[in-house]
Amino acid sequence: MRTIDWVDGAIEIIDQTALPGELKILRLHTVGELVAAIQSLAVRGAPALGVAGAFGVALAARVHADDPQALAAAVHRVETARPTAVNLARGARRAALLLPQGPQAVLREACRVRDEEIAASDAMAALGADLLVELCGTRPRLLTHCNTGGLAAVTIGTALGVVHELHRRGQLAGVIASETRPLLQGARLTSWELTGWGIEHRVAVDSAGPFLMARGEIDAVILGADRICANGDVINKIGTYAHALGARAAGLPFVVVAPESTVDLGTPSGDAVTIEDRGSSEVTPWAAAANPAFDVTPHDLVTAIVTDRRVIRLDRGELL
Ligand code: MRU
Repeated sequence: MRTIDWVDGAIEIIDQTALPGELKILRLHTVGELVAAIQSLAVRGAPALGVAGAFGVALAARVHADDPQALAAAVHRVETARPTAVNLARGARRAALLLPQGPQAVLREACRVRDEEIAASDAMAALGADLLVELCGTRPRLLTHCNTGGLAAVTIGTALGVVHELHRRGQLAGVIASETRPLLQGARLTSWELTGWGIEHRVAVDSAGPFLMARGEIDAVILGADRICANGDVINKIGTYAHALGARAAGLPFVVVAPESTVDLGTPSGDAVTIEDRGSSEVTPWAAAANPAFDVTPHDLVTAIVTDRRVIRLDRGELL
């Protein structure tokens, strides 16, 4: 099943706000509906956002074919619906390059973005599984954070795709999904996907991660990225940095899995990235809250980055 697709003239998504309680499909007919879905996290995760951006421009191209100003405004709304994952603006801009050739050409390009993400998931799963076995021996016990499965991409996902592949090969000893406060992408979405794949797992509160590593219950941390900067800094869901520090203290590999579409050589380091703050209401009704949705993990805490084309061993001084 695809998390996001173009079906009969509209974008269809799995509504991730309804999971795990209900598997609900939403049909999005307008840019306004798409932007609302992106901002409410009904569709989320860097690769899926890239596809959403491209399909969003395809929608805009059909609706505003005769109004260049309205079209430009709609494309801008899609590109900027969320600021941190590079895939969203990149997917939208890639599709927008085809606007002069008409709506059909834009839609074809958007479908290519989708198909490339599907192929990238398969490639990352294989490369990542090989690397994990090399780093940890045959049956690693893994900790993952946020949701990096098919729900964050189109089909199999990034880091969770590697978990799936290790399981398929009979080489997975266990997996812990950290719950991912405040919106619980780990507890709700990763757990739902792992259950669907028949993979036994446990959910842990985010703050338990470093202690579980120190106590010897984890062999490696594996997670995704929303943007990988030119110097190897990794922008990912808030809590990633704490897990990286825990992994460093425990001497464990810290592996980031993300497609080339998430690598942003135009951003020199994490300092240059806009980190979305999602406001107090997601965190607590009783006080003002700091709610950064992402954090920056400095490149020197990262063992390796796995993309769909290569493995970059930052621990050996390899560069992007
Ligand atoms: O706010 P979200 O749920 O969109 O954040 C998603 C993440 O941080 C994921 O870890 C990241 O996009 C990698 S998904 C393959």
